[in-house]
Amino acid sequence: MFEPNLTVLEQAGSTQDIARRMAADGAPSGTAVMALSQVHGRGRSGAAWYSPPGKNIALSVIIRLSLEIRRAPLIGLLASISVATLIESLCDPVKAFLKWPNDVLVQDKKISGILSEARIVDTNLEFIVLGIGININSGVNDFPEQLKDSLTSSFILTGRTFDIRAVGNNLLKILGDSILKVEKEGLDFVPLAWENRWLHKGCKLMRDNVRGTAAGIDLDGSLLLKLDDGTIAKISSGPLFSA
Ligand code: BTN
Repeated sequence: MFEPNLTVLEQAGSTQDIARRMAADGAPSGTAVMALSQVHGRGRSGAAWYSPPGKNIALSVIIRLSLEIRRAPLIGLLASISVATLIESLCDPVKAFLKWPNDVLVQDKKISGILSEARIVDTNLEFIVLGIGININSGVNDFPEQLKDSLTSSFILTGRTFDIRAVGNNLLKILGDSILKVEKEGLDFVPLAWENRWLHKGCKLMRDNVRGTAAGIDLDGSLLLKLDDGTIAKISSGPLFSA
């Protein structure tokens, strides 16, 4: 049972590391930690995640669910749908789109990234920690020079600033509703819900030397690429590039 319980810290190294420790110590599903300033944020594929102090969401939340391990990536996809819903509610009338696996984009610029880490013991999924970074009150000058053209924020999109704590609680509420739906109905609705916001559906993508058309999302969250010879390749980890 997911019960939202948010702790807000003035500063942290990485909320992801804190939440993982709390999960290993038995913290229940819905336990979340947010840092107003995060100094060693971690992104996917070992990259650093930079966020200027006091401006953005850096939040990690513990999820405990009984599900097949192979379907755990769907929880990251579900979280990106929740973040897209949140951003649309803050920045109405903008539309938020998804880039596989877990990025949220508005007007072709990244506004949020999600790091999903699972702990598996023997053959059991013990927990998932979702680390969610969302650019909220950053201005263009808060972004690193080399990323200025590829990032956006709620502030840039609306000219308004937002209360970070309120946005964090709002995010947990939306995510909690999604997890509740999964607890009731299972995960089968996730691939289609995700595809409905997919920026690259039908586009040519490539990974290493595999090139094809973005055709769909499988029941385990993999991306299905239709190759030129008509066969389908399953891609289970990013990143993919436009081909
Ligand atoms: C990405 O590479 O796009 C994922 C970025 C995830 C960043 C978030 S911020 C909160 C949490 N704590 C971390 O150290 N990383 C995640």
